[in-house]
Amino acid sequence: MPHRKTVIFDAYGTLFDVAGAARLAAAEPDGAVLADVWPTLAENWRRKQLEYTWLRAIMGAHADFAEVTADALDWALDVQGLAHHGLRARLLALYDALPAYPEVPQALAALRAKGMRLAVLSNGTPGMLRAAISSAGVGDLIETLLSVEDVGIYKPSPRAYELVGTKMGVAKEKVLFVSSNGWDVAGAARFGFATVWVNRTGQPMERLPHGPNHIMPDLSHLLVIA
Ligand code: LAC
Repeated sequence: MPHRKTVIFDAYGTLFDVAGAARLAAAEPDGAVLADVWPTLAENWRRKQLEYTWLRAIMGAHADFAEVTADALDWALDVQGLAHHGLRARLLALYDALPAYPEVPQALAALRAKGMRLAVLSNGTPGMLRAAISSAGVGDLIETLLSVEDVGIYKPSPRAYELVGTKMGVAKEKVLFVSSNGWDVAGAARFGFATVWVNRTGQPMERLPHGPNHIMPDLSHLLVIA
């Protein structure tokens, strides 16, 4: 699709490894208590974080992603009986410095070399997104950071996807939207973007309207179709 010149990326799970904070914390001297449970902690943290975004959107009770992420972490620590182990601040700091998935810098650089405009559209706050792209070393490759904070409602609300047009002046027909989150792909496709589902973990297809145009295991395959 050579006429599509703008590639919009979801952030967490697509560019940045959301399990990274719990994994890195478990490897630190103070994190021994996480050694066996960090994968469960990471999974509960992520699942609860997303649930809270959807619930707050439905309730009309928006709070920014930093707050929702901290609330979800508190819940996930509580499940493990770790609410009082002093890990909270460290895990939240690591969330602002998540590693990118290994292929991400090279994949983004190759798209840029091909003349594509690259942007991020995320639930993350502007501050969280700036911290994440900088610590992942991809800040120079991304032209624009679009945060749902500008509309005060989370994806998959169409108001979130509208930010691409209102902030970048790009027609939806020119956009390729890339996300590892099947529900995010569905929202973006319903809005009118062409979509790529980055199925990093071999998940089954979501049973939602508006499936992806393309499916790939990681971003290294993006250059072929972009
Ligand atoms: C984001 C979440 C959905 O970055 O991963 O918007």
